[in-house]
Formats: sequence, C-alpha cells, structure tokens
Amino acid sequence: MRILIAGDVVGKPGRSILKEYLDKKKNEYDFIIINGENSAGGFGITGKLADEFFNWGIDVITGGNHIWDKREMYEYLANNDNILRPLNYPMGVPGSGYVIKKTKNGDKIAVVSLQGRVFMPPIDCPFAKMEELFWEFGEDVKCIIVDFHAEASSEKVAMGWFLDGRASLVFGTHTHVQTSDSKILPKGTGYITDVGMTGSQNGVIGMKVESIIPKFLTSLPQKFEVAEGNERLNGLDIEIDSKSGVCKKIERLDLSKDDIAAF
Ligand SMILES: [Fe+2]
Ligand SMILES: [Fe+2]
Repeated sequence: MRILIAGDVVGKPGRSILKEYLDKKKNEYDFIIINGENSAGGFGITGKLADEFFNWGIDVITGGNHIWDKREMYEYLANNDNILRPLNYPMGVPGSGYVIKKTKNGDKIAVVSLQGRVFMPPIDCPFAKMEELFWEFGEDVKCIIVDFHAEASSEKVAMGWFLDGRASLVFGTHTHVQTSDSKILPKGTGYITDVGMTGSQNGVIGMKVESIIPKFLTSLPQKFEVAEGNERLNGLDIEIDSKSGVCKKIERLDLSKDDIAAF
C-alpha cells in the first residue's frame, strides 16, 4: 500500500499547498495521514478545518501538544475517531490516541499518535503506552503507523529502534524541520526523526520572523502570526507490504508550489 504523510500543516499557507498537492496526486495513494495540530492560524485545529481535510480525502489527522488549543476540539475529539490526540495523555482526557481503519484496498491499518516527554509536558511514558497497545492489537494488525510528536531527536531515534519490526513506520513531528535521516531499520520499520512542516518557509517554523525575534530578544509575550510565501509541502511517500507490514520504500517529500504545478 502506498501512503502519503504530510508534516505539521501550518495555517492557510500550509492548507493551500496541501490542497494543491492532493488535487494532483491523491488518487495515487491508498491512505493519507496529516499532522493537523497547527492548521488553524498556527495554533490548533477547528472542527470545521478537520471536516474540510476529511472532505479532501485525508483519512487520519494526527495531533500533538497543540491539538488542545481550540477548546471546541475537546468535544470534536471525543466524537470523531479519525482525528487523534497523543495516546499517552493521562486517563480521562477526551479523544483517542489511535484508530484502526481500512485502506481503499481493504487492508487493515492502525494509526497512532504519541508524544515525547523530553523538553515537553510530563505526560505518561510513550514507550510503555506503545507496549500496552501492542497487547491490545495482538497479531491481527500488521500495518501500524506511528506519529511520534517529540522535541528531542534522541527520544525519537530511541522510539524508532524500540518499534523496529513491530511498527511499519515511525515518523517524527513537532520540530517543523525535516531531517535527512529517513531509512528502513533492520527489522523493516520505516523511520525519520522529523518529516518537517507543510507551510511557509519564510518564517520561524511557520510563524512570522517579525513576531518571533522580539520574543527571543525580550522574553516578553508576543502575538505570533503565520508566515507567508515560499510554501513547501514536507512529508513522506511510503510503500508498505500489506501482508507483513514491512516498509518497502520511504521517500522524503520537500516540494514547492512550482514543483507541484509541474507534476
Ligand atoms: Fe507542530
Ligand atoms: Fe507540536
């Protein structure tokens, strides 16, 4: 099965380049996953935007620390299986951290949203939570895709090795900067430390330079605005053997609007 992953979609510039890519390419994919935690003006996502993404043909939206930014999402997450919040939030938090779906070809696929703990809020252990989830899945689910939303590359690399041979793909999100270490680990798990960001590359990880630099200079609160121009779609083009769950191909996507127009 061929799967498209798009890294953190930031604001309108991110949504617009994603839509342009999907208009040209979505029929080539069996399954499409995006990280949507920054799609509403850089902070969170709304129910209306999530509905729009699903209408575009996106199968699952993964989350992260910003998934909670819009209060309406507490209810939306509780009522919609195809948008995830990280699995390892404490008990009683609304929403689900994983979903099991079928692709266009009828293959079963599980998507998991996980969040790291290094330089991030101290939530439950992502490694232990994954271990519990494998017990729940049993032998039945072969294709397992994990979005590991984390700050520290060491924690992400460790998760890749921890899940090698047990997940089909472990892709990092949250830093918004694509890493060049995509690979297939020895037991068949596709891995990348961060898929990067789908949005404007004219800013600081998606936000206007003029709104971020004063924050570093003064440490005072600032109003952040979404950057514009030089949009790029960052993500992955993945091939997975649906019988075994083994990753056969992992290709990084880093595309401009011109690249997409030329397809
Ligand atoms: Fe993000
Ligand atoms: Fe994040």
